[in-house]
Amino acid sequence: MTDLPRADIGVIGGSGLYSFLDDVTEVPVTTPYGPPSDALLVGEYAGRTIAFLPRHGRSHSVPPHRINYRANLWALRSVGVRRVLAPCAVGSLDAELGPGTLVVPDQVIDRTYGRENTYFDGLPREDGTFPPVAHAPMADPYCSTGRETVIATAREQGWPPHPEGTLVVIQGPRFSTRAESLWHRAAGGTVVGMTGQPEAALARELGLCYTSIALVTDLDAGAETGEGVTHEEVLAVFRQNIDRLRPLLTATIKNLPGEDACACPDAPDAEHV
Ligand code: ADE
Repeated sequence: MTDLPRADIGVIGGSGLYSFLDDVTEVPVTTPYGPPSDALLVGEYAGRTIAFLPRHGRSHSVPPHRINYRANLWALRSVGVRRVLAPCAVGSLDAELGPGTLVVPDQVIDRTYGRENTYFDGLPREDGTFPPVAHAPMADPYCSTGRETVIATAREQGWPPHPEGTLVVIQGPRFSTRAESLWHRAAGGTVVGMTGQPEAALARELGLCYTSIALVTDLDAGAETGEGVTHEEVLAVFRQNIDRLRPLLTATIKNLPGEDACACPDAPDAEHV
């Protein structure tokens, strides 16, 4: 642990974003929760050290429901990361927000199941001790400073985002039926994805400031009248937008204020997880 490099900001790359900075050191990290999706790729940008982690692995071999979210967030924290930028591909539940729209969600509805979704699981650790009982506050799941910075930066870059919205996270790997999609919309959802949870909740449990950056790749089944989305379509639209997503991320990194500027709650008991 002691020879790991230190990083300030973590970027978790979604479908189609498998690398980030050019000059990076590959840092394999082991965690008490098993292996993360890939080694961390650590590099410098704008005077900050960035740890990049491709969420699905760099060859996109890990599907959303098999991602070891606990190991991923733990790995980032173990190199010192305090802020996480988390781009992801989403379907839109609102026909007005078409492919290529950037959404910066302020809320999340978790519809996932069967995923390891807490560090405070009440189960014995390797050394036989137990984690404490703890309950992370989640009323406002995302970092307001991170969100404001992404929104302002995207506007500066001529890609004005939808500045709020509720991300519904489904279990996948299948897409929603039309009825499910309409139901998600009726429940207040704006966009739908498969990876936003438990990622955001685990970040909160570790006291990391987490900002979701959702790129609309398709209209979800309830918002369109066609055959429904395919994985190929998602990847293709993400690829088409990568040339504006990368500069958005780097400029956001430049614009992010120091860690103290943030009002995110502290970890409930991260020292003793
Ligand atoms: N990711 C990209 N598009 C999606 C959709 N329509 N549903 C769930 N996850 C997605």
